[in-house]
Amino acid sequence: MSQLDLVVIGSGPGGYVCAIKAAQLGLKVALVEKDPNLGGTCLNIGCIPSKALLHSTEVFAHARHGKRHGVVGGDKLTIDVAALMANKDKVVSQLRGGVRTLVSKRGIEIVPGLGRLGGAGKVVVRSDKGERVLEARNVVIATGSVPVELPFMKFDGETVISSDQGIALPKVPDRMVVVGGGAIGLELGSVWARLGAQVTVVEMLATVGGPALDPDVAKAAQKAFEAQGIKFELGAKVTGVKKSAAGHALTAERDGKALEFPADRILVAVGRKANTTGLGAAEAGLKTDDRGRIAIDDHYRTNLPGVHAIGDVVAGPMLAHKAEEEGVAVAELIAGKAGHVNYGAIPGVIYTEPEVANVGLSETEAQAKGIEVRVGKFALQANGRAIATDATAGLVKVVACAKTDKVLGVQMVAKGASEMIAAACAHIEYGGSAEDIARTCFAHPTLSESFKEAAMAVSKSSIHSL
Ligand code: NAI
Repeated sequence: MSQLDLVVIGSGPGGYVCAIKAAQLGLKVALVEKDPNLGGTCLNIGCIPSKALLHSTEVFAHARHGKRHGVVGGDKLTIDVAALMANKDKVVSQLRGGVRTLVSKRGIEIVPGLGRLGGAGKVVVRSDKGERVLEARNVVIATGSVPVELPFMKFDGETVISSDQGIALPKVPDRMVVVGGGAIGLELGSVWARLGAQVTVVEMLATVGGPALDPDVAKAAQKAFEAQGIKFELGAKVTGVKKSAAGHALTAERDGKALEFPADRILVAVGRKANTTGLGAAEAGLKTDDRGRIAIDDHYRTNLPGVHAIGDVVAGPMLAHKAEEEGVAVAELIAGKAGHVNYGAIPGVIYTEPEVANVGLSETEAQAKGIEVRVGKFALQANGRAIATDATAGLVKVVACAKTDKVLGVQMVAKGASEMIAAACAHIEYGGSAEDIARTCFAHPTLSESFKEAAMAVSKSSIHSL
């Protein structure tokens, strides 16, 4: 192959989107992928399969609890786990095909194998067919992340598992203990709880959903999940696993008191870490930070000339859509155009039922920055559509600057919050005020009206709450 303009290493949402954007901008691009399928963690073992499982288990849960709607016999329903997994695999397979088509049709060469930095302007790709050297003016590293392993309870794939196995269990465990009440813990905990497992989430912080959520929002989410039978053990520090008479038990401590949680499966979801395995980072002199993430400047440039990095392998939230935005921006910068990501308007979503979503600053974060805020909240239980559709759990919260009324952040626990948050993202992107939302016409009846009402509540002018 003659000299390329760009070699992208890693075909997750960061890498393949970067490759497509660069090709659209007229660059000659190769995309290196070590796995047989394109799409990375998100498509193959992350966002997409978990969404398929969440949807299937929602169908099951709705049917089981459908008595009020005239659905009879729900309590006798059983689940065919193999069929559920087959549906998930079909969804993943369809999207894999879609990504491959999109990439190939743009004239991007897909190079199978493990990519390694091979000195100035070179990437060495090793596969079972041998080694091949790609020469390129630019390299983008988009090698993603892998689950964090707790040193005192290593993954064994059987009792102590990561999300990799948590999306593919062959049968419903009787008791599942989830370590970590973040996105993965709550999503996969919900999947297996809906299928009948007794799920206990052990979290070291005092709230669920991660530190970006305000405590009132996190509490509303926790209450909704508890109503579905999930148990929470907060403020608990995990200490290990021990064999018990009935199998295994997770051990933990809280305020000096020893705790023990019997479990058939222990799903560890305590975060992910940058993946630079096989990249030859140290040999190439690539700088990383204290957490092993590739160090970059504000144009995604590493310390090596022509080598860039994006997505989970660099600092910032480990989210597919953040990686995609960075993929577009870095391709534009390499092509000599302006490329930019607004890190203040990246939404976070936990796809549970109800969903949890946030964008911008929380009330706590705004206060920590010394910004005086006004806050408006609206509970879903006062929303007509919510009452008509079993969606009364949760609330929407709008955080606005007290001086200018500019919306700084929005948080919500609501059915369909992943879709509702999009309006908040656009609003923050345009720098709009709470009054702007309050004066925008929202369709009735919709759950989204809760967003409008919360914006009205910033100036204490909500119509449907007192
Ligand atoms: P996370 O960072 O979202 O949550 C980890 C949780 O584990 C935190 O609440 C933390 O306090 C807790 N924790 C850490 N160490 C602990 C310990 N020793 N004992 C008890 N609790 C402990 O990480 P998670 O859920 O593993 O997800 C990994 C990454 O993937 C995150 O960056 C997440 O944002 C992303 N992701 C995003 C999803 C989404 O957008 N819906 C879905 C799944 C993952």
